[in-house]
Amino acid sequence: AAEGHVEVPNTEFSFDGPFGSHDRAAVQRGFQVYKEVCSACHSMYLMSYRNLRDIGLSEAEVTAIAASYQIQDGPNDNGEMFERPGRPSDRFRRPFPNDNAARAANNGALPPDLSVIVKARQGGADYIKALLMGYEDPPPGVTLMEGMYYNKYFAGHQIAMAPPLTGDGQVTWADGTQATVDQMAHDVSAFLAWASEPESDTRKAMGVRIILFLTVLGGLTYAVKRKIWARVG
Ligand code: HEM
Repeated sequence: AAEGHVEVPNTEFSFDGPFGSHDRAAVQRGFQVYKEVCSACHSMYLMSYRNLRDIGLSEAEVTAIAASYQIQDGPNDNGEMFERPGRPSDRFRRPFPNDNAARAANNGALPPDLSVIVKARQGGADYIKALLMGYEDPPPGVTLMEGMYYNKYFAGHQIAMAPPLTGDGQVTWADGTQATVDQMAHDVSAFLAWASEPESDTRKAMGVRIILFLTVLGGLTYAVKRKIWARVG
């Protein structure tokens, strides 16, 4: 293992394994954490507001969420850029106009786009959850660089992201679930896992159906074979 490598603890997610599927309520709660906390620094450029329909938000909810953002558009007939309220077909608004502005606001570090972060990092959703929970005081003898934080699970341990989930009740969920730090970390990881692979439920369901089909077909084929060859012995 690399120096300072720490095994990422396994978190049980509803989508684990070949029969697992996304827990829509958790994914919706996780979206709210992304929206209210992470989106201050992290873009999700591959996501459009209308994609939220897939996790069970209504047309009206999606339209309202989109409209709550001002989106850059243009140029208009006069060649000017302008802002207008978002539409469901818009991509998630980026927090910064470009990478330089993002770095300038984050001590030189670039907050990565989170669209496919669960695919991009070893450990996937387990890693994201662990990272969010992994802030600690640096061990004796370790001096942090200016503006850096100690995280058990980050490669090299010094991370430019301040702990984003700082206390229970940081968000308020409509379904009454207690927003503990652990629950927020879990649900936002579930949301990011869904975003990285939105079609995984369909793919797994299809896999199950294919296996069932092949099992039945295999049985039938065998029965037919027995029948056809019965007299040959
Ligand atoms: C890095 C997630 C909130 C600033 C990261 C990484 C992830 C992540 C997965 C990549 C770590 C890696 O490279 O392995 C999240 C989540 C958030 C959140 C889920 C909300 C719960 C924020 C906020 C800020 C921020 C609010 C700014 C105030 C950064 C920066 C980095 C980073 C600057 C780069 C760190 C480095 O390379 O040292 N974040 N983040 N994040 N995040 Fe966040």
